[in-house]
Amino acid sequence: MTGGTRALAYVCMYLMCSTGMCATLSGLLEVASLRRYLPGSSIRSLSAKVEEIMQKSDKKQPSFQFLRLGDPKLYEVSQPFMLPSEMPLAHQTLQLMKQATQGMGNVGLAAPQIGILKRIVMFEVPAKHPRYKTDGVAIPMQVLINPSYKPLSDEQNLEWEGCLSVPGMLGQVLRYTDVEYQYTDLEGNICVRKASGFHARVVQHELDHLDGVLFPLRIKERDMRSFGFTEAVMASSAFLQSRQES
Ligand code: NI
Repeated sequence: MTGGTRALAYVCMYLMCSTGMCATLSGLLEVASLRRYLPGSSIRSLSAKVEEIMQKSDKKQPSFQFLRLGDPKLYEVSQPFMLPSEMPLAHQTLQLMKQATQGMGNVGLAAPQIGILKRIVMFEVPAKHPRYKTDGVAIPMQVLINPSYKPLSDEQNLEWEGCLSVPGMLGQVLRYTDVEYQYTDLEGNICVRKASGFHARVVQHELDHLDGVLFPLRIKERDMRSFGFTEAVMASSAFLQSRQES
């Protein structure tokens, strides 16, 4: 499909949504995710319209469907934001990410999970979590644009993690214990930060999304005994033992 044809198709999808022919939030976000093919002014007006429609949507509707394991888009490498010109697009993408995760209780989200193949993630590290082994230290919401990281040592640790794109499941994944990550913040500043333990795990998990890697692809030695449904895993001796150690 050419760029022009693609843009026309997306405008048609948008019109379907705005006339009530397509009422689900997933449909709206799908349209929003395609804004990258439209010129800047169209992106702005479309984004505003999507926001308006979402605010009017019935709150009782089923929760938003994130792209899930098996969707080819999740295995693509996302494009960096061209800064500073695409900073407004980064803000709009973040707004959609926040709307999509409202009330979800998730730790983090990467833009590809809502179908936007751009390099932005957000996360908020909780002091405690029912499923994840944390360090008792809460870290407020962070938004990373065009992030990268490097391990600060070879030390790794094995822990359970989950993902909105792999709902209802947990897997044991080896991650570097200490990392340094670099990113651009929402004001355009280049920032460098160190992270350890769960914070470092979250950074590595979210940045993996930008390179098309979901946590099941990183399960230790591809051992499927390290992957399972959340309730079954949380009742297992391996999970309970790892919590006793914390
Ligand atoms: Ni994830």
